[in-house]
Amino acid sequence: FRGRGRLSDGPRLGVMATDGAPSTTSAAVGNEVELAAAGRTTQGVPPSDTYLKESGHWIADFAEYADMYRRSVREPERFWTELAAREFVWHPSAAPTVGDALQANFDVRHGRIEVQWFRNARTNICYNAVDRHVHAGRGDQVAFHYEANDVDDARAHRAITYAQLLEMVRRMAQVLRDAGVQRGEPVAIYMPMVPELPAAMLACARIGAVHSVVFGGFSAESLAGRIADAQCRVVITCDGVMRGSKLVLLKQVADEAIALCESRQPGFRVHTQLVLRRVPERLPHVTMMPGRDRDLHQAMAAVDLSAAAAPATATTNGAEAVATDGPLLAADVEWVHAEEPLFILYTSGSTGKPKGVLHTVGGYMVGAASTFKYAFNVRPDDVYFCTADCGWITGHSYGVYGPMLNGATQVLFEGVPTWPDAGRLWAIVDKYRVTHLYTAPTAIRALKKAGDAFVKRYSRRSLKLLATVGEPINPQVWGWYHQVVGDGRCNVVDTYWQTETGAHMIVSPPVRGFQQKPGSAGVPFFGVQLAVLDASGREIPFQPGVESEGLLCIRAPWPSCIRSIYGDHERMESVYFKPFPGYYLTGDGCRRDGEGYFWLTGRVDDVINVSGHRMGTAEVESALLRHPAVAEAAVVGMPHEIKGEGICCFVTLNDGYDGSGALRDELVQMCRREIGPIASPDRVQWAAGLPKTRSGKIMRRILRKLAEQGKHLDVASLGDLSTLADPSVVDALVRDYVEE
Ligand code: WTA
Repeated sequence: FRGRGRLSDGPRLGVMATDGAPSTTSAAVGNEVELAAAGRTTQGVPPSDTYLKESGHWIADFAEYADMYRRSVREPERFWTELAAREFVWHPSAAPTVGDALQANFDVRHGRIEVQWFRNARTNICYNAVDRHVHAGRGDQVAFHYEANDVDDARAHRAITYAQLLEMVRRMAQVLRDAGVQRGEPVAIYMPMVPELPAAMLACARIGAVHSVVFGGFSAESLAGRIADAQCRVVITCDGVMRGSKLVLLKQVADEAIALCESRQPGFRVHTQLVLRRVPERLPHVTMMPGRDRDLHQAMAAVDLSAAAAPATATTNGAEAVATDGPLLAADVEWVHAEEPLFILYTSGSTGKPKGVLHTVGGYMVGAASTFKYAFNVRPDDVYFCTADCGWITGHSYGVYGPMLNGATQVLFEGVPTWPDAGRLWAIVDKYRVTHLYTAPTAIRALKKAGDAFVKRYSRRSLKLLATVGEPINPQVWGWYHQVVGDGRCNVVDTYWQTETGAHMIVSPPVRGFQQKPGSAGVPFFGVQLAVLDASGREIPFQPGVESEGLLCIRAPWPSCIRSIYGDHERMESVYFKPFPGYYLTGDGCRRDGEGYFWLTGRVDDVINVSGHRMGTAEVESALLRHPAVAEAAVVGMPHEIKGEGICCFVTLNDGYDGSGALRDELVQMCRREIGPIASPDRVQWAAGLPKTRSGKIMRRILRKLAEQGKHLDVASLGDLSTLADPSVVDALVRDYVEE
């Protein structure tokens, strides 16, 4: 991505005050009017007095929030440059400047989409997330309380201070350097939620390498696809881990994935695999391939940190940067340009294989840290707990970078919320006196279903703020989170965003004067200009008192915006920018109420949201098609009590096969093997034929309705079916539908 040309002479955005001079625009910019309307509502739930009393606040109230928002959209370059310069350490000779803050083309009609923030500035996100706090005398502060899967795994549970983490990261960084990892080179990380996982991410960032974390629940096939896509030659993994009562064999999957990549691409080789020994007592004999596999802890222990402090390569240029700031400790830091890549994270789209979303260092740092700070109000004495795995974007932005850039103390949880029982999260809350909890509606639904007794068994007195992400939270579930988990005392913060946005786009600011509306994600974060488009792509302007519904788009670049799809920039342009020139298309539908609040209504494309995880229906279909019995498959989402959406597959079989229970199990296994357990179909329906148009396109809306209503589906309610090649297919589908 680096060095693909600059945009200094490209067109700039109309709203930008390009020279940093105060804007003279008198008309409202962005969503100023929406925010003004939201500030006047009396319809929502105001923050409780206890919350306001017990919490620290970076800003006084919602009026100040709205004022900061106004500045952020009228003078984005000045706003973000001032924030960036104030809150982070930059190379002294390359700090961000207002005149150079943003280069962007956000409109495909003007050429290549390119977004660059602070492009001439240099920094290191690992230094900002770890070293800085140690130098400021906070080395003894706990960075992570590590809570292992097993409650009684006394050897594993431990607190890791920022100073200890720094040493861990420096050792790991040196191991990577010794393995020949270069600045800009992608490294695959396939690990469970152990302290070594964030440490590995930070170690990559420290040396300017690019991490590609693959969720530890993905299959060998999925991991292979990701290793091959970015051509990772170094993989960091783990022998295995207990998840709940199950032993997961990560190293075995990683070995298989590497073998797949090497067999498919002659000449490609993973030359180094670093293996964490997490469960040696359960897996005493892990096969290590000589010359390739190394024990991670042994390699780290062998590092001589005094030697590691010396610049390892000619490109290392940090020594002079930190002469006043901790010279020895930081000499092993690469001071990279803000627009150098930081990580790749794969996510599902409506077509094709998962996309490697690319984020760069400077803008991502500013976005993750500032949203964490203002949406969550975490203070130094607080204990923050994000339940997301680092394999997802939430784990990146709000389990590693956001909190650590703010010097927070957090809980890192290896296990699952329902093991050994549904009280585990609340036990953790009491054990570490957690003040801030960030989780997903799917987890809340599962815990709600288990019954209030599990919650009530614990005090939860320490909790102040409860946040959610990943899917719309319905008002009943919101109410349970607020009343039962938070005893009505805590502030509930919904946060809407995506892998591509890097950081929150819509939040419910936890400040005096802002009322939460259960089920609404809230209002835009600083710098975010939301637009609601009708189906023809026309923007529906906001009018107080008038509700509108449409496609959610974003009108101007924000710092942590997606920069590219790894290896396929054109695909990024066609997915997000070509459909409506001038806008980033989120893929989500939304409703904006008459008071300027945004309510997400779900994906408008063929992406489904299963337990808060994005899945492309096309991915599941291609997994099914690998089975010899399957002639055709169409996958749609269906309502699911816990998962939000479940996976419903309509399958047409080849001649000679009958739909049996055994075949159904085989297909379920196929999806688990090809993608991972999160892709297990909830329902497999045998279909004599699929509803296709004369041009052969499957009409999914019919299948969606069928999956939702089953046998009760009234075919007449489906509207015009005359474009179907064979309308009788629909009657057959309803007739053959098997309720489960
Ligand atoms: C959905 C997760 C409603 C949405 C951070 C989006 C939400 C997709 C919310 C991104 C929310 C996320 N309310 N829907 N608060 N948060 N979504 O990339 O459909 O894994 O497009 O990022 O999750 O999923 P992703």
